[in-house]
Amino acid sequence: MTDNENITEHGLTLVLGGTGKTGRRVVERLEALDVPVRMGSRSADPAFDWEDKATWTAVLRGVERVYLVYYPDLAVPGAPGAIRAFTAAAVDAGVRRVVLLSGRGEDEARACERIVQGSGLDWTIVRSSWFAQNFSEDYLLEPVRAGEVALPAGDVPEPFVHLDDVADVAVAALTEDGHTGEVYEVTGPRALTFAEAVAEIGRAAGREIAFVPVGARDYATALAGHGMPADIVEFLIYLFTTVLDGRNTPTTDGVRRALGREPRDFVDYARETATSGIWKELDQS
Ligand SMILES: NC(=O)c1ccc[n+]([C@@H]2O[C@H](COP(=O)([O-])OP(=O)(O)OC[C@H]3O[C@@H](n4cnc5c(N)ncnc54)[C@H](OP(=O)(O)O)[C@@H]3O)[C@@H](O)[C@H]2O)c1
Repeated sequence: MTDNENITEHGLTLVLGGTGKTGRRVVERLEALDVPVRMGSRSADPAFDWEDKATWTAVLRGVERVYLVYYPDLAVPGAPGAIRAFTAAAVDAGVRRVVLLSGRGEDEARACERIVQGSGLDWTIVRSSWFAQNFSEDYLLEPVRAGEVALPAGDVPEPFVHLDDVADVAVAALTEDGHTGEVYEVTGPRALTFAEAVAEIGRAAGREIAFVPVGARDYATALAGHGMPADIVEFLIYLFTTVLDGRNTPTTDGVRRALGREPRDFVDYARETATSGIWKELDQS
């Protein structure tokens, strides 16, 4: 990673969650543009930890722009306080521009957006629908590989977004003029139910993958049995039972408005991910 003290015309950009699903893609794109990047995560040097404000000053020193990703989610208790404290520290450190990754349809995330909008920083909000890559880079990978995805998701369609689109929008907002004060609500070009998404993945991977609807309590018990921390289990149940009620089904024009092109389709995601071999059956990999 570049941690360049000689700030170019773009200035030093801090990418929080820089090793995560969206942050990694944002870092790759910024480095390709020769933008000096500082990673912000517990494993970076200097380390950044949301739980330890003492780490923030060194990480913010000399930074002009920030890709702001909160972990685990803007909808968890404690997020607004952390976002308020972090944006105040960013202003004190001389940061000028912030691009916030937010979640669609979450009142708590909306409260965090308002804090960023009132921070005094130049801001852009990237308000994202459900990531397609949750099926390949997060908690849904293991069930896909095992051949059965059991979720408390009924027939509500979700316009899954490709993370390359999220990263493209974030990088445009970080590096180009004309995105300040914009809320880009980003989705894929069509909504699929979870059953349809799993069927697309099965077709692309060339194998049978079952989708099994389950009750929320059974799902919570299964996640806890796999050792998932209680707060993450609670958050996932909230997502499936409260946020996945149809409020996020309509597609939006956020990718087109930000980038002047259409978003990638879920089928493109499924085909390219299948090519990597990551969805092979567990005993074949
Ligand atoms: N999943 C979805 O479908 C979805 C949809 C809309 C919005 N979102 C939003 O996406 C955000 C998550 O982004 P992501 O998926 O790109 O991240 P992610 O893949 O969950 O990656 C986590 C990143 O955060 C870092 N991290 C973990 N704990 C940390 C801590 N205590 N302090 C500082 N850094 C920490 C990790 O690095 P280290 O381990 O090195 O610290 C890693 O770089 C959430 O805020 C969520 O609201 C998600």
